[in-house]
Amino acid sequence: MKSLTVQAASHRYPIYIGEGILQDFSLFQQKIGKKAAIITNDVVAQWYLQPLESSLHAHGIEFFSIVLPDGEIHKNNDSLQKIYDGLLTHHADRQTTILALGGGVIGDMAGFAAATYQRGIPFIQIPTTLLSQVDSSVGGKTAINHPLGKNMIGAFYQPQVVLADLSTLNTLPDKEFSSGMAEVIKYALLGDAVFLQWLEQNMPALMQRQPDILAEAVAHCCQMKADIVAQDETEQNVRALLNLGHTFGHAIETEMGYGTWLHGEAVAAGMVLACRLSERLYQLPAGDTERVKALLRQAALPDVPPAFSFDRWLTHMRHDKKVHSGKMRFVTLPQLGRAKVETIDDMDMLREVLREYTDF
Ligand code: NAD
Ligand code: GLY
Repeated sequence: MKSLTVQAASHRYPIYIGEGILQDFSLFQQKIGKKAAIITNDVVAQWYLQPLESSLHAHGIEFFSIVLPDGEIHKNNDSLQKIYDGLLTHHADRQTTILALGGGVIGDMAGFAAATYQRGIPFIQIPTTLLSQVDSSVGGKTAINHPLGKNMIGAFYQPQVVLADLSTLNTLPDKEFSSGMAEVIKYALLGDAVFLQWLEQNMPALMQRQPDILAEAVAHCCQMKADIVAQDETEQNVRALLNLGHTFGHAIETEMGYGTWLHGEAVAAGMVLACRLSERLYQLPAGDTERVKALLRQAALPDVPPAFSFDRWLTHMRHDKKVHSGKMRFVTLPQLGRAKVETIDDMDMLREVLREYTDF
């Protein structure tokens, strides 16, 4: 098992990464109150709810479970209300700990419920997708979607501990595994050219889910995220780099309908657009964009975005949380392995970048 520490300004907590740790009660014994509320969805519940419940039961923890419908389409106010209903019905109080068992959708919603129920109760992240293990469970971003924009309602609220059980990835569908790989590639592009080379060499083994290689990648990404969150918990500066590909990606998700394009798929296509923008801004070689596209293809990810009108792209991108004083900001790549936030007010440049892929 590997363990890391996140030193966020508001709170310091461990991340544990290993096989079968979901049932290792000793890893969260110190962090759990008298009562636990497990929040999960109907897909994850089939695999992992009973083992977690058994572990709590064996250690005399009183608990109840709230099982939500599966999917990004349910990352909304209705599901949040169901969580509050369950917490109130079971008389959850400030000594109750929420256990978020699932992917990024469950982690983000359960985290937001924890941040807001009775003005904040403790929560533990138990991520079960690659995406949530390398990204969403770490760093305390919690949210639900609004029909007009992704993750528009949320809070920064850190978990007490993160338990990334790698063996849960064995049941993850291939498409979801690829979606998580987009965020792994994102880390390499934004901050680590050596890791980029490592990924190019090891992508076949990663896609076969070889446990030792996978453990190395998950731990590396978590360490990169922990380092960034330690410097900038609330995204005032360097944390914004983690949004590489996300301004374009969120536009794709919102335009296509939540869940139509998986988050990671949209981010993958968004990273290609970020490369194209960087070609124009800094003369990033077109060959570098091709290198990124080749790596995305190795991970069975899309390297071409869907086509929709320039006006729709702009409408969605103007809702981005990086918009500052009405100006759109994008994470760009002066070179592969180094990212920079740029304000773009040259609409012709954006139009050019999107022209190749846009139904004008
Ligand atoms: P998800 O939570 O929808 O999970 C993907 C699918 O896999 C779902 O159908 C889920 O039920 C299923 N699943 C989960 N674990 C499984 C397992 N072990 N075996 C079989 N099936 C399993 O999606 P995701 O990709 O994990 O997360 C995407 C979400 O994360 C988006 O809403 C995105 O906005 C958010 N996100 C948040 C952050 C953050 O910092 N908070 C970062 C990146 C992404
Ligand atoms: N996934 C982006 C962030 O956590 O900041």
